[in-house]
Amino acid sequence: MNRIERLIGEMSLAEKLGQLTMTAAGHAVTGPIVAADATEAIKAGTIGNLLNLFGADRVREMQRLAVEESHLGIPLLIGFDVVHGHRTLFPIPLGEAASFDPQLWALTAREAATEAAADGLTMTFAPMLDVSRDARWGRSAEGPGEDPWLGARMAEAKVRGFQDADLCAADALAAVAKHYCAYGAVTAGRDYASVDISERTVHEVHMPPFAAAVAAGVAAVMPAFTDLAGIPMTANGALLTGWLRRRLKFDGVIVSDFNAVGELIRHGIAADLTQAAALALNAGVDIDMMADAYRRGLPTALERGWVSMADIDASVRRVLRLKARLGLFDDPYRRGKTPEAAPVIAARRQLARAAGARAIVMLKNDGILPLAESVRNLAVIGPLADAAAEMRGPWWGAADPEDPVSVLAGLRGMLGELRVPHQPGVEIDGENVAGFAGALELCAQADAILLCVGESAAMSGEAASRAHLGLPGRQRQLAEAVLERARALRKPVIAVLFSGRALIVPWLIERADAVLAAWFPGSEAGNAIADLIMGRVSPSGRTPVSWPCAMGQVPLFYGQRPSGRPGDPMDRFTSKYLDAPDAPLFAFGHGLTYGVFALSDLRVTADRVSENDTLEIRVDVANRGARTAEETVFLFTHDKLASVARPLLELKGFGKIRLNPGQSGTVTIFLDANELCFLGPDLEPVFEPGEVEILVGPCADRSRLLVATIHLVPPRP
Ligand code: BGC
Repeated sequence: MNRIERLIGEMSLAEKLGQLTMTAAGHAVTGPIVAADATEAIKAGTIGNLLNLFGADRVREMQRLAVEESHLGIPLLIGFDVVHGHRTLFPIPLGEAASFDPQLWALTAREAATEAAADGLTMTFAPMLDVSRDARWGRSAEGPGEDPWLGARMAEAKVRGFQDADLCAADALAAVAKHYCAYGAVTAGRDYASVDISERTVHEVHMPPFAAAVAAGVAAVMPAFTDLAGIPMTANGALLTGWLRRRLKFDGVIVSDFNAVGELIRHGIAADLTQAAALALNAGVDIDMMADAYRRGLPTALERGWVSMADIDASVRRVLRLKARLGLFDDPYRRGKTPEAAPVIAARRQLARAAGARAIVMLKNDGILPLAESVRNLAVIGPLADAAAEMRGPWWGAADPEDPVSVLAGLRGMLGELRVPHQPGVEIDGENVAGFAGALELCAQADAILLCVGESAAMSGEAASRAHLGLPGRQRQLAEAVLERARALRKPVIAVLFSGRALIVPWLIERADAVLAAWFPGSEAGNAIADLIMGRVSPSGRTPVSWPCAMGQVPLFYGQRPSGRPGDPMDRFTSKYLDAPDAPLFAFGHGLTYGVFALSDLRVTADRVSENDTLEIRVDVANRGARTAEETVFLFTHDKLASVARPLLELKGFGKIRLNPGQSGTVTIFLDANELCFLGPDLEPVFEPGEVEILVGPCADRSRLLVATIHLVPPRP
């Protein structure tokens, strides 16, 4: 009998339920890290997993209690939210998505895992894969943006990065794909609210990133807090066991979200913890995080015959298997054994700097960027300029709030203190305008003004939905005053937006000379921004969300289905707003560079294509600008006539090319024809013969895309 079966055979019910329980450790640096009763429970084998504990020594001590002092000596799983870095922070995931760079996505996850594993961790509650089309939802910041295909690519890269080739390596973490599924579609963008969308949308839009994570071998999945059409995901047997386990063949661990099993009572589908525990276990949830419902409820549920010992054993088996895959039985102390060497940490900072710059999207540039050497005085104004802690974004892991490089520090480091005067003008979310005068005074001496405005880190992420997506507090007033003064003085203004979402600030974008969407760039924020502003790096980020121009457009996404009455300004009875454009301010994929690119000559290798073919799509790209830059080229498709109306554009690929001034090249994108399958009327995948448009260009604005047509045909006999 193997070790796992032997252990299960020897375990008491209480020990089994301990393996199915995850409890939080305090963050306290002084005082007890884990409450005394939890320490006793670890020794008794009745708590088998911890979260929110890091630091090699502390982890080692807890692991020692489990391994050396408990009866069966089973090591603990220790999880933490290493979402966009652990101590070194990379850009928030929405910002990283903007890099459209799978290699970078994998690399930053690899580095985050290495750093976190050196701190004793074994599991990260990441990647967050919730497609979000609603900028009100603060958790958009944590995920891949609006597109399911992009989400799927990010999922693969992140799982590969966190877990690497071998989960038992001392620098590998078990990844947890979350939050399964459709959390991003909460009603009106309000966090934790109900989700009620079609089964088709669940499968076409929200499922692909999870399917990709499973295909990439993700170790664990976390169900969303939310209900889907009345069934909370934590109790959703059809999607957890039926779809995730049976259809997608996921054989890893399902770990609940924080207290989600207990919240089944508030959802109104469980009368008490016993029923909640039974519902979750029967749906397929293996580990109960923080509700303590399994330990308290499952013994009674078992007595009443609501759950079976076979199902409890199956969950325990999955948890133990994961611990074995992580190498914990062979050497529970393998992670956190050796402190990291200084060059390793320094190289990681360099990666954070590069990643920070690659995430930034240049929304607008009238030509002021990159800043000329002749700019001797750059006035830096706004509450986000000297705000190191905010640069971390909403999941700051174990990062020290003082550690990130602020915009001010980055620019002063590059240009010298004297060339970069600063005034915040106002607080991020305050009412006090006493600082306006000082900020405005800087304008007179300045050659250019850098306005750093936006949200605080805590205004996006979990429980951070917003109904007004403009600048918080009095920042708009400050920005308008600066723009006004700058216009009078004929000084250019560059606005840098910090946010976990697309901010709706058309007035600012209209009036500033250049605008950068910086998201939250992480530990090296200020250096990354300075690199870009000073032209050491050409901007290459592209927005992974359609950027709204008015609140009423939200939810907004490019992949809409055709209307029977497409918008026509000359015809009243068509699909449009009377008081706002229906197009976004910036299309999905928009982002300027320091080059000037022209695309031409779209070629597709075949005209008649069957399901198993691979197409090669080529387009020529020329840099007609005066600077070296990297262009991103997107591949969309449109199935014009199908049994189910297809979106007007569907992302199926992208390619990048770096070109010197005057240089031309070719971008080649491969497309497997089976990617042109869609879910038919019965929600099963079909490959339907007919015409499909291949559209290639710089963003999801149809008027800027080159188009070719192919014909899908039945497979050759
Ligand atoms: C969040 C999860 C997170 C968990 C553990 C929850 O509140 O929804 O994303 O992994 O807490 O920190």
